Amino acid sequence: MRRDRKIVWHPAGMAAIAGKRVIVVGGTGGIGRAISRLLASHGADVTVVGRRFRDADRPGIAFVPADLGLMGEARRVAEELPAGNADILIFTTGIFAAPHRQMTTDGIERDLAVSYLNRFVMLRSLAPRLGRDRRDAAFRPRIFVMGYPGTGAAGDPGDLNAERRYTALGAHKNTIAGNEMLVINLARRFPGIGSFGLNPGLIRTDIRGNLLGENSLRHRIVETLIGLLAPDADSYARRIAPLLLSPDLERFNGAMFDRKARAILPTAALTPDHIDRFMAASERLAQPWLEGASSPRL
Ligand SMILES: NC(=O)c1ccc[n+]([C@@H]2O[C@H](COP(=O)([O-])OP(=O)(O)OC[C@H]3O[C@@H](n4cnc5c(N)ncnc54)[C@H](OP(=O)(O)O)[C@@H]3O)[C@@H](O)[C@H]2O)c1
Repeated sequence: MRRDRKIVWHPAGMAAIAGKRVIVVGGTGGIGRAISRLLASHGADVTVVGRRFRDADRPGIAFVPADLGLMGEARRVAEELPAGNADILIFTTGIFAAPHRQMTTDGIERDLAVSYLNRFVMLRSLAPRLGRDRRDAAFRPRIFVMGYPGTGAAGDPGDLNAERRYTALGAHKNTIAGNEMLVINLARRFPGIGSFGLNPGLIRTDIRGNLLGENSLRHRIVETLIGLLAPDADSYARRIAPLLLSPDLERFNGAMFDRKARAILPTAALTPDHIDRFMAASERLAQPWLEGASSPRL
């Protein structure tokens, strides 16, 4: 990862978050949950999407259930979410690809479905509506896509669904590349929205369970080691929160930020031509769940 020193931002005080409407897709666990709880504790009105709600006792957090491994669910929930009034939309849903190819009942490789393709489907409905009904908004609406941007993954638009060849890393790289390209493409197609990529680096969460075996000894050892070496989700949330509201983001679009919220350069291989091919491959794969969608292509 290389720093982008042209992008300099100054933190917004946490008071700026009071009263803001935030949607966190993936806000029920791990990093998304830490961000949701922090923003709600400073007065934000947060809606989280996920499978298991763990914060019913917390004021300021509403829950919308959805299994985002299923594209029909992704479309349904996107159409139901109160995007018109939202100031900030954050995507943090994710898993890691399993050692052997797993497929959802939609016929989609599971990591691709959970970590990338549902975002592609949801954004078709969410991006055109985001923040449209707000009054007196101090800034343009913002989308933050969490993944692993700036790390050189280009993905394979010729085998997006890993049907010809499967490795866990190869499949996961399709999700990493796809999410980085979503940011670049959103900035291109929706200049009225600020779109940004977030790379949290290594954080101790549940994300590697699908690769290492949920709650297996190996999983617990790896996460314990990560916990010793890297910050936890709450520390990362405290680091990234002042960026989410920074007035300086009005001047940039499509920027990526590392684990310390410093701007980083996008992956060089993600040329406009490559992005168009990847988006077209995503469109083909998601087509059955996009039918009848009136919103523009991503
Ligand atoms: N942790 C790291 O070291 C690391 C490193 C690089 C990038 N990232 C990125 O950071 C983001 C957050 O990851 P994390 O580490 O916080 O992971 P995590 O602790 O496993 O949390 C993942 C979130 O995704 C949700 N989720 C998983 N499967 C779902 C499904 N089928 N339907 C609906 N929601 C589902 C979970 O909700 P439920 O619990 O409700 O199912 C949870 O809210 C991801 O984009 C990941 O790629 C993380």
